[in-house]
Amino acid sequence: MNNQDIINEVRRHNDIVDVISEKIPLEKRGKNYFGVCPFHDDTNPSMSVSREKQIYTCFSCHATGNVFTFLMNYEHKEFNQVLSDLASRVGITLKGYKTKKISTKYDEWYKIYNLANKYYQNNLLTKEGESAREYLKNRNIDELTIKEFEIGYSLKNRDDLTRLLTTKGYSIDLLNKIGLSSENHDIYNSRLMFPLHDLNGKVIGFSGRIITNSKQNKYLNTKETELFKKGKLLYHYHIARDEARVKKSVIIMEGFMDIIRASTIGIKNTVATMGTALTKDHIKEIKRLSNNIILCFDGDEAGVKATLTAGELFKSEGIEVKVIMLKEDDDPDTYILKNGKEAFQGLLNNAIYYSDFKIKNLSRNRNFTSSEEKSNYIHEVLEEASKINDSIRTEIILKDLAKKFEIGYNTLEKSFKELVNTKEIKKEVNTTPKNVQPKKKDKYQKASLNIIYYMLNKQDIIDMVESEHLVFPTEDLRALESEIVYFYHKYGFINEADFYTYLTPKGELLNLLNDVLEMDLKTSLTKEELLDYFKVIREYNLKKTIANLEEKIKNESDPLRQVKYAEEIRKLRIGDVLKW
Ligand code: GTP
Ligand code: MN
Repeated sequence: MNNQDIINEVRRHNDIVDVISEKIPLEKRGKNYFGVCPFHDDTNPSMSVSREKQIYTCFSCHATGNVFTFLMNYEHKEFNQVLSDLASRVGITLKGYKTKKISTKYDEWYKIYNLANKYYQNNLLTKEGESAREYLKNRNIDELTIKEFEIGYSLKNRDDLTRLLTTKGYSIDLLNKIGLSSENHDIYNSRLMFPLHDLNGKVIGFSGRIITNSKQNKYLNTKETELFKKGKLLYHYHIARDEARVKKSVIIMEGFMDIIRASTIGIKNTVATMGTALTKDHIKEIKRLSNNIILCFDGDEAGVKATLTAGELFKSEGIEVKVIMLKEDDDPDTYILKNGKEAFQGLLNNAIYYSDFKIKNLSRNRNFTSSEEKSNYIHEVLEEASKINDSIRTEIILKDLAKKFEIGYNTLEKSFKELVNTKEIKKEVNTTPKNVQPKKKDKYQKASLNIIYYMLNKQDIIDMVESEHLVFPTEDLRALESEIVYFYHKYGFINEADFYTYLTPKGELLNLLNDVLEMDLKTSLTKEELLDYFKVIREYNLKKTIANLEEKIKNESDPLRQVKYAEEIRKLRIGDVLKW
């Protein structure tokens, strides 16, 4: 078997509906399956997955493709990795498959970061690394953990790494650009070094921590580059990805040390931001790991604030997270050090819903002396409770409230129902359908796309297009058509999903194919309907030929030739009438 045959075989054995529903919930509606599209911000099920066509399409962000592209985008993996995952998912061996490595301009960057990473790790073992080893020992970080997190040390000299890398032939400009050097000097000196990995586990930068009391910033991150963006990177994500699947949850913490400490007690389904607030991009990635998300931030005032901000952000994305709130002076690192694994596991098991945390937090620093104070608070709690989609939980909240302030349950319930009702009315008023402007296509393009759509489904239509010598109006349509014909003759069959894989490396035609795949036409068409489409395209070609001749007449000075062109036009018009 050649590569394409192997790829097709793997695809055919991995039903797209089964594979996607292992990642996101799908619901059957009619002949298609629907789910919330993971490729844009959404809470509505705008992604449709077709078992028949083995294709997914999002009506909102127009993401589309087959089982390979889904996993490549969803898991941030390269094609060959996805191919091998799917092959082993169904027990196919990839014997005979020839890997073609696609090299990128970043390969060199990765190589340099890897070299630097090894260099820093090695420094830790040298004599000069002794103080750093001592520091780690004092913080109870053992050797296994140092290895696991690839912790290293940058030397005091101002240019060791820069010199090493330039003697290996890397230009100083490149080292400056990727954030390891500045002018001819190293960026990092006398710092404990933590490599930062991208979502796939490739090193794309570092964070260096001071180990002495100093006025410098505690942590120094690699500057933002084309590969390293703080708003996207999540520390430890590449490890958490598999762990979250096993543990069926993911824990978000604030600092590296928290993540590292949790790892020492076997809790590895954790991620942290780079000391910044969570962004929508972070949330999109975290949602892919699990929908059971637990926030475990520092116990100080800043941690409470960060918990509230993150909780709201997740809520706006349709997810209610759970929360662990530590005591004022603790962060997960110190808590685990003091109390151990069992105690921390206990906290995890008792994490509370974000709304319950928020309600609890509403009573902080308040003394309910005046009736106004009490009533304000009660209304705030009701407001919060009205956002919860679970009548049992809201009843518990109302009952607690009734008891705490000695008010009748019925009175509270009445206010609560009024609040919910006014909210629903408001919602109805505000949800006017969004104005999605479809891309305007003229009738010639439409006819062409329709024909191509059926060429991908019905092989006899390919034969007809060929035998009728149909010429599509634009260059890209003609290119797509010739790819379809080529695929069909080469493999003796065609379907959308396999053709999609075949076309993927040919980048620029994919958008056009996406337009075709987004169409949801009826399954069969009559010969008359097909011929109608052909007619539209011929009409286009005729108009164009005539327009060309008219242009020639305009530019021609010889009257005899002008007559000749006019005669051609006349014939074309008559021929057109006779033919149709
Ligand atoms: P330790 O103090 O070593 O226990 O680290 P930590 O992980 O507990 O850090 P902390 O809770 O103080 O801060 C949380 C996160 O914010 C850190 O992991 C860093 O990502 C980031 N951070 C903290 N201080 C700095 C700083 O000075 N500069 C930058 N860029 N980031 C910082
Ligand atoms: Mn800490």
